[in-house]
Amino acid sequence: MSVKIIGTGSAVPKLRVTNEDLSRILDTSDEWIYSRTGIKARHIAVEETTAQLAAEAAGAALSMAQLAAEDIDLIIGATATPDRLLPGLACEVQRILGAAHAAAFDINAACSGFLFALNIVNAYLRSGVYQNALIIGAETLSRLTDWTDRGTCVLFGDGAGAAVVAADGAGETRGILGMVQGSDGGRGMVLSCGNRPLNNPYVNHGNETPYVDMNGQEVYKFAVKTVPAAIAQAVEAARLTVEEIDLFLLHQANYRIIEAAAKRLGQPMEKFPTNMQERGNISAASVPILLDEVNRSGKIKEGDKIVLAGFGAGLTWGAAVLGW
Ligand code: UT7
Repeated sequence: MSVKIIGTGSAVPKLRVTNEDLSRILDTSDEWIYSRTGIKARHIAVEETTAQLAAEAAGAALSMAQLAAEDIDLIIGATATPDRLLPGLACEVQRILGAAHAAAFDINAACSGFLFALNIVNAYLRSGVYQNALIIGAETLSRLTDWTDRGTCVLFGDGAGAAVVAADGAGETRGILGMVQGSDGGRGMVLSCGNRPLNNPYVNHGNETPYVDMNGQEVYKFAVKTVPAAIAQAVEAARLTVEEIDLFLLHQANYRIIEAAAKRLGQPMEKFPTNMQERGNISAASVPILLDEVNRSGKIKEGDKIVLAGFGAGLTWGAAVLGW
């Protein structure tokens, strides 16, 4: 028994906002943003909702998998930016697609959300509880960023990526070969975002804002240390070496973080495709959008070994090794 991604899809909003566009509304520049992060542009939702982007990505993944929405028995939405708190994103996607036979729920593991969702469906599918699952990372982070804070708003974008994951009879070199995930809530406040405060007659209100607040340098240090270590552990769990990995698809927070991870792993940057140049950091959607773009470009060959890795708020991290 193996658990395999059999379809991928992605969607981004129509509006493309370049670094030059941002330099007209903020004290920033293309030079600063590009040299520190690798980001040139990002797509920002104006009319699109998280659920619409998620459903578009999911529809594309279903078409590639040649499955109908009714064939799906589990939908997991990974998001920190659902359109509404209730109903959740996964149930909204179920409604839009007509996936009437699925159980649907959301998780929030920030930028690691897609990896955590993959780990959950891996367990469900391997144990025989479900056959076909849909996992979606979808965000409209533009709703959570303070557009007067140049230190954060230039980093993020909006979009969705999805994958259809199925249990199949293929041998041990296919499907999900190794996974690790972890969290460090003790350091969670280095990347936070407040919610609506408790609002009852018995509380004094705190002053946390409902916007993303980040200690960039702490998150940077966490990422360059934790991500290569998690990848090395997942590769070992898959009984492979990093040299045997064909592609490493990492969360697209910052080009310099990816370069540092490549260096620590002793692997060439050609094995690390990136899309943050055009997409920015889309939290839970980054990894599945990159996976879909690389998949559709024809860069992945059957039998390739691929690493997916996410990291971010929580703090959380996850890595998976796939045999394609
Ligand atoms: O998915 C979540 C994961 N998040 C991450 O992985 C983020 C990891 N961290 C980073 O990528 C980097 O820390 C950043 C790109 C966020 C920031 O880069 P940095 O080299 O750590 O810059 P900094 O925050 O130390 O700021 C350096 C300077 C400051 O000015 P002063 O105090 O030196 O005068 C900032 O005010 O750059 C200034 N600055 C900007 N200048 C122009 C901050 N943002 C901007 C901006 N444009 N957008």
